[in-house]
Amino acid sequence: MVPQKPQPPSFESVVFREALGTFLTGVTVVTTIDETGRHWGLTANSFTSVSLEPPLVLFCVASHAGSYDTFSRCPSFVVNILSYDQLDLAHRFSRRSPDKFEGLHLDRSSAGSPVLPGSSAWLGCTVYQRLVVGDHLVVIGRVLEVETSGSLPLGYSKGNFLSLAPERQGAARSAPTGRVQWMIEADNGDLLLALEPSGGWALPTSPEAEVRLDDDWLVGAARRLSGADEIDAPALFAVYDDSSDGVVTLAYRCRARGAVGLPPAPLRFVDSRTALNETRGNDVVHSMITRFVSERDEEAFGIYSGTVERGRVLRLGSS
Ligand SMILES: Cc1cc2nc3c(=O)[nH]c(=O)nc-3n(C[C@H](O)[C@H](O)[C@H](O)COP(=O)(O)O)c2cc1C
Repeated sequence: MVPQKPQPPSFESVVFREALGTFLTGVTVVTTIDETGRHWGLTANSFTSVSLEPPLVLFCVASHAGSYDTFSRCPSFVVNILSYDQLDLAHRFSRRSPDKFEGLHLDRSSAGSPVLPGSSAWLGCTVYQRLVVGDHLVVIGRVLEVETSGSLPLGYSKGNFLSLAPERQGAARSAPTGRVQWMIEADNGDLLLALEPSGGWALPTSPEAEVRLDDDWLVGAARRLSGADEIDAPALFAVYDDSSDGVVTLAYRCRARGAVGLPPAPLRFVDSRTALNETRGNDVVHSMITRFVSERDEEAFGIYSGTVERGRVLRLGSS
């Protein structure tokens, strides 16, 4: 058979990622121990069950991951399926760090891989097969040990973590009451925008289930969205009520300093002129960016308060 020349894709990579993001998954932290006794772990939602007999599961690790080499040769690993209250671990293990396990209380599988207590379940596996596929290593494990805790799992979709607990309990958080939106500016003045499924551009928004308003959370949220190492103290930029869904939006502005890595899709830094052009179809976002750019030039920021239709900009010192 004559090998087929691969067809170029008919879509942009950002669109591919966006489509994949609509697939709701759980969240795992896959851990192992290397021959020197060092612990390794990464947040992974590529976990999938493969076979019941024999019991097989798989996860995929990207070729750029710091743990790639270790997972290319380790004989065993543990899949920790995170529970809804382990969001901090999901964040911790999704960032590069010399010691992701610092300060954590750990249990161990019989092969010695770290087990994170409090997970919904953990699976101790021995490596069954490894395949290099595209830009990922697929690691298939044969499950030797299993423990479940009964905790409800953490979910993930479209770049947001989801707690499945409220739905399960029929609790009151089904209707969100507040969201946090961001005007994040890079050192060079570019603004962070989010590509919407409709193809339009919007301001990035933090997942509602996670929102808190203390400084640590605000800085962490801006860092996660922008991929920046350092965030200048976020300041309130607008408070408005969207009558279409009854949700109050708090918009914060901040500067993302230093080396801004590629933010996670579908986010992108764009220069302010492009940001204004690209958001012409979205009156609210367009007017916010217009005000931001002009107030930045004047070095005097106000706070908008009102609805999406009507409101006023409050300035410090004015009544
Ligand atoms: C929800 C979520 C799921 C992820 N799933 C994967 C995955 O399946 N495979 C992967 O290689 N990286 C995945 N990542 C990214 C890694 O966690 C991230 O690149 C991490 O820095 C890898 O750690 P390491 O560089 O120490 O190996 C995911 C990140 C998040 C937030």
